[in-house]
Amino acid sequence: MAIYTTIEEISQHAEKEVLIRGWLYNKRSSGKIHFLQIRDGSGFIQGVVVKKEVDEETFNVCKELTQESSVEVVGLVQKDDRAPSGYELLIKNVKAVHIAQDDYPISLKEHGTDFLMDHRHLWIRTPKQNAILRIRDEINLAIRTFFHERGFVLIEPPIITPAACEGTTDLFEIDYFGENAYLSQTGQLYAEAAAMAFGKVYSFGPTFRAEKSKTRKHLNEFWMIEPEMAFVDFEGNLKIQEEMLEYIVQKVITNKKAELKTLNRDIAILEKIKAPFPRITYTEAVEMLNKADFEFEWGEDFGAPHETYIAEQFDKPVFITHFPTKMKAFYMQPDQDNPDVVLGADLIAPEGYGEIIGGSERIHDLDLILQKIKEEDLPMEIYEWYLDLRRYGSVPHSGFGLGLERTVSWICGIDHIRQTIPFARTLNRIYP
Ligand code: 4AD
Ligand code: MG
Repeated sequence: MAIYTTIEEISQHAEKEVLIRGWLYNKRSSGKIHFLQIRDGSGFIQGVVVKKEVDEETFNVCKELTQESSVEVVGLVQKDDRAPSGYELLIKNVKAVHIAQDDYPISLKEHGTDFLMDHRHLWIRTPKQNAILRIRDEINLAIRTFFHERGFVLIEPPIITPAACEGTTDLFEIDYFGENAYLSQTGQLYAEAAAMAFGKVYSFGPTFRAEKSKTRKHLNEFWMIEPEMAFVDFEGNLKIQEEMLEYIVQKVITNKKAELKTLNRDIAILEKIKAPFPRITYTEAVEMLNKADFEFEWGEDFGAPHETYIAEQFDKPVFITHFPTKMKAFYMQPDQDNPDVVLGADLIAPEGYGEIIGGSERIHDLDLILQKIKEEDLPMEIYEWYLDLRRYGSVPHSGFGLGLERTVSWICGIDHIRQTIPFARTLNRIYP
């Protein structure tokens, strides 16, 4: 009896007969031999069907097999150094589970990205997309493991919320039994409450921004990891960020070598991602830009070319710290020595991937947070519970948000964020 296995684990069965369940990715045939490219979700392998070595039925079934037909294949695992998996299957028997219609939309030639995004439900079967989403899975696990091992408690904030947090312009509004509500832009405020209950927490969930932005860095629905820590200051906040990112990148290098190879990702670049990361203040960044003739004014927000230029000066992610208070969200703690800037930082990824983390120390003084809420004209009654955190045992605390898809984009080295999430939601896309 052949042992059932997956392509990923095929190396454990060299010279043995195995059963693989999967789909036909591609086929080349002559009168006497069929080469079947089989995928089973865990990997791709070539199977060889030689006419004189199989029964007639098996050889004839192979003639019928169309692209993406589902199959059960029994064969002998043979070492083959030329094969990407290192192995080839000498096939003994093929059973068709379902012969796919012969009009499979994604052929093996090039297609435009819009066409592929329209067929995203099928596109994710192909090697590159499959590799990206497997790396996403690894990053997901690495993040959860990192925080779990350090005593952080996972707290899920609500997705339906009564208020804005990161500015009111990009909210998705919904009707909540006759009242206005919004899809969550961030879980941060709830994570702050949880940090006062559990000490160290993180949330990890979908986040919604109604930005009408078409860049390769923006999604309207994305996943954000948001740690929040009581008794941690600005400095401690940066430390955990660099430690976390080093951990994630090294996990991907160790556990996802084949996928990085499929994506042609230069691992040497990723190997350099070790803490500590360089830091510059916003003011220094402005000087750096002006020396390079960007004509950038203090108080402006960085655009993509600015971020890219700053990132190019370093071979690791770089923290830009102490942004102007006016530019940033109401909850950020101003610097005692210079209240015009905040104790916050953005982390800019290398190679032009832009901001992957935004974070800060939070205002923990009741009067100051009250003043900020008034200045920004935010509806006070909705923030009452948030003010309670400053009324009852307030402590200095800090946190940050890491965008999962931007992190996947950068680690995979791919050119558009829409490929880093199973089914992207962008300005012009809500299908499939
Ligand atoms: O800088 P942002 O807006 O920060 C917050 O929401 C804070 N409340 C986080 C916190 O301190 N707990 O977003 C954080 C990160 C960005 O650095 C970016 O990686 C990602 O979320 N992000 C997006 N990713 C994809 N598409 C978008 N439209 C994104 N907007 C932000
Ligand atoms: Mg930000």
